[in-house]
Amino acid sequence: MGNLYEKVFRPLCFTQGAEEAHDLAIHALRLLDTIPFAVRILERFNLRPRNSAPVHLFGLDFPNCVGLAAGFDKNALAWSALGALGFGHAEIGTVTLHAQDGNPKPRVFRYPAHEAVVNSFGFPNPGAEVVARRLSQAPGKGVRCIPLGINIGKSKITPLEEAVTDYLASFRLLADYADFMVVNISSPNTPGLRELQGRDRLTHILGTLRRANLDRAAGLGVKPVPILLKIAPDLSFSQLDDILRLVAENGFDGIVATNTTIERPPHLSALERTGGLSGRPLFKKSLDIVRYIAKATGGKIPVIGCGGICSVEDAGRFMDEGASLVQIFTGMIYRGPFFPAQVARALAWHHRKWV
Ligand SMILES: Cc1cc2nc3c(=O)[nH]c(=O)nc-3n(C[C@H](O)[C@H](O)[C@H](O)COP(=O)(O)O)c2cc1C
Repeated sequence: MGNLYEKVFRPLCFTQGAEEAHDLAIHALRLLDTIPFAVRILERFNLRPRNSAPVHLFGLDFPNCVGLAAGFDKNALAWSALGALGFGHAEIGTVTLHAQDGNPKPRVFRYPAHEAVVNSFGFPNPGAEVVARRLSQAPGKGVRCIPLGINIGKSKITPLEEAVTDYLASFRLLADYADFMVVNISSPNTPGLRELQGRDRLTHILGTLRRANLDRAAGLGVKPVPILLKIAPDLSFSQLDDILRLVAENGFDGIVATNTTIERPPHLSALERTGGLSGRPLFKKSLDIVRYIAKATGGKIPVIGCGGICSVEDAGRFMDEGASLVQIFTGMIYRGPFFPAQVARALAWHHRKWV
């Protein structure tokens, strides 16, 4: 199937601009979602094949260890069909408190020779209230076929000093619908966002969200929503140490490592577009971060490994280095819609071999 995609469908898709092809993919998934019978059959085949290896983490049941990374389903339109492609969880967003258009187009560029993408989207989305309303009409927690993560970011119009209030308001609007929340402080396309990874600002954000989560849980008589932090791959190890300490002190449940990179490896120094680089050139950087976190914390903080997974072996390397789950985005652009199912099946087989 992968080969057919690469030989026939990919060249067709690539005749479209990257953002147009992305929009088409969302439309195709929404169309698929209107045929529940087809979705169920595909889920049976792709999501829970024989010998699949489910993962229990954050108090949630993941049918397999492969998820969709944030940025694909920014507006919560297509996630409920993603189990059909074999994704064992989906992270929607980034959603911001205020609706925003994002940066001017074009803002996504493919580099096929490097299996890479550069994007400077800047969080276009309809705002947390609209997304919450949309999710309130969809299957809720506990009856979904895959866990749903909601990734929140800071609105562009909100000054950095007021970031906490912005995150808090988004959290309050969306937590009822999330199986887990992801706090994004690492996208390179919102001016200043990555400064929130600094010690003082991060302490304030994590502490405030933690208290809000505990208060909400106590008020509703439910368990707190698992909250994860999504980090950049461009951190020094001492910055990373600070972040790990804060994550542990504030009882955050895990880390998504990593977002896109603003750096360019030497062989790609000529890539002229600014923005976040994803895909194969990111792999080593993200893997190094996952390895460091697993070693530094003795595996106590669960990590979702993400960055440049373009083959089954790449995903296996993340798991071997200590990731509990992995996420894919750019790899699907180059390998096709059933790449996640292929990875999940291969990793399950590997897992079974040893148990
Ligand atoms: C087109 C595009 C848009 C993205 N948008 C977001 C986003 O809105 N929020 C976010 O946290 N990450 C976003 N990302 C980053 C991905 O979630 C992921 O962390 C990164 O691309 C590395 O994974 P990959 O190499 O498998 O794509 C985006 C990535 C791409 C390629």
